Amino acid sequence: MLYQAPRGTVDILPEEQPYWRHIEQKIARVCQLYGYERIDFPVFEDAGLFQRGIGTGTDIVEKEMYTFADKGGNQLTLRPEGTASACRAYLEHGMTNLPQPVRLFYLIPAFRYERPQAGRYRQHHQFGIEALGDIDPAIDAEVIDFAWQFFYSLELSKLALLLNSIGCKKCRPNYLRALKEYYAKHAAGLCADCQVRMERNPLRLLDCKQPSCQPVAETAPKSADYLCPECQAHFDKLKGYLTVLQIPFTTDHRLVRGLDYYTRTVFEIQPRVAGSQGTICGGGRYDDLIEELGGKPKAAIGFAIGIERIVLNLKKQGIAILNLPKPGVFIASLGEPAKNEAIRLAQGLRREGIGVIMATGEKSLKAQMRQANSLGVKQTLIIGEDEVKAKTAVLRDMQKAEQKTVPLADLAGLLRSE
Ligand code: HAM
Repeated sequence: MLYQAPRGTVDILPEEQPYWRHIEQKIARVCQLYGYERIDFPVFEDAGLFQRGIGTGTDIVEKEMYTFADKGGNQLTLRPEGTASACRAYLEHGMTNLPQPVRLFYLIPAFRYERPQAGRYRQHHQFGIEALGDIDPAIDAEVIDFAWQFFYSLELSKLALLLNSIGCKKCRPNYLRALKEYYAKHAAGLCADCQVRMERNPLRLLDCKQPSCQPVAETAPKSADYLCPECQAHFDKLKGYLTVLQIPFTTDHRLVRGLDYYTRTVFEIQPRVAGSQGTICGGGRYDDLIEELGGKPKAAIGFAIGIERIVLNLKKQGIAILNLPKPGVFIASLGEPAKNEAIRLAQGLRREGIGVIMATGEKSLKAQMRQANSLGVKQTLIIGEDEVKAKTAVLRDMQKAEQKTVPLADLAGLLRSE
């Protein structure tokens, strides 16, 4: 039996790697510009961290988590996202005592048992940032500006920023009451999932994708109309800062996000190109999560970006990515003494910073030259018995099909100059 990668997972093959390297370089640069420092968490955490953090009524916790008991009987979960881990680490390592906000970033694989499709995987990769311990709407603006700047640095265009405020624990109950009352009047036409959401997670009613539920969701009460004065002021200030930053946004009253920890600001960035696999960046405030996880109340905000979706969009927008140069020199040899010399020479040239591929096996010179051609190297060094004796190599320019004999001692200098 030939094994295949598990459904919903992909191998990132060498030809895909330039995209990933390019994105990682942009991440490092933009994090440095905004002063965000890297953190890495374990791939698995206590299942309870995500159950409490993300919320038991969410799709992620109910349907999508990879949870298992280890041999010690501990309930562990492969992380479906990074925010809960960031908060856990923030508390565990006393980062509440540092100057606030603490600015962190991560680049992690995340695991969700979802129905695989283009741009949706069971293992995907997230680049996320979290600014922990600050309530100022200027931080909301910084985080959104950061995402915007990151996409700008990748030259991704045609993006839409959707923004909403879903209030806080003080004002949201009023809103949910109004939402439930409204939906109760329209219950008859709703899909089966929405019937359940009405009881378990009414905010998610607005997020339903079923065509039959769209007209009801469109005219539903808007959270932004039910904000308490503090949430209203926060939202107004954020919108003011975004205007100062000249970041265009659309307020979308149906934007509620799929995780329960959000308060006040929620946002998503989506390509405005049809068939572009949806949201590439999602984030928002989570002012109650740190307290929910056992800490003193601390406000925080962040976002995460799906790397696979960025790669898809870079390709879709035809953005060229430079490949790393491959070794330009091939060494062919004939006979065991020459092979010894070739091994030694390859090591020496690499130490001089010259990339080398060496022929292996017992191939004929013709077969070795075919291999050099298919690798696309600029030069081939050929070593046979005579060359070993004379401490030379034949240097062949593959494009010009010209060759000359060169002393081994001169090779590094010559290759470097060419
Ligand atoms: P999220 O919206 O669930 O938010 O995921 C963030 C991003 O990860 C999405 O916008 C999407 O680009 C990508 N993504 C999510 N699921 C998949 C999947 N199955 N396959 C491919 N890409 C996917 C969060 O995870 C929050 N922790 C974001 C956050 C950080 N909020 C505050 N801080």
